[in-house]
Amino acid sequence: MSKRAAIKYKYVSPEVVAKGAGKSDVIPLLQKVQVANGFVPEEAIHEISGLTGAAESDIFSVVTFYKQFRLKAPGKYLIKVCDGTACHVNDSMLLLDVIRDDLKLDDVTDTTDDGLFTVETVACLGCCSIGPVLFLNDDVHGKLTAQSVRKLLKEYQRKARN
Ligand code: FES
Repeated sequence: MSKRAAIKYKYVSPEVVAKGAGKSDVIPLLQKVQVANGFVPEEAIHEISGLTGAAESDIFSVVTFYKQFRLKAPGKYLIKVCDGTACHVNDSMLLLDVIRDDLKLDDVTDTTDDGLFTVETVACLGCCSIGPVLFLNDDVHGKLTAQSVRKLLKEYQRKARN
């Protein structure tokens, strides 16, 4: 039995498995897994390796190299702080410090212990005129200050409790 046939595919669709895929399909496959799950589970790396013939270590390197991929599930609320030029000059990184400080995240942690918030920085979110900007899941928040960001975090913490 081939390696491909021996794998039980959970993250790669049956259509893709039936059609087959090569090494050049690794990134598009990872992108699909990332979008569908919010992260790339280890099992998905195993599946993609089996299907494409790419080494698991190479796929792991791709996942850790590109910021668009996550290896761990994000928190319930994913905060994307824009660090594009317009937001940066409007102190977006100070806001990031406020958020990380309020959520008690150390330098190497991006998700709160209770799994409620994940914080990351992203490039321009396309709404520079209301910078500094962040996305909280699908909601955009602009013209932020330290005070309004703290208020926003409290609002979502309250929401999560109810
Ligand atoms: S630079 Fe932040 S939205 Fe464009």
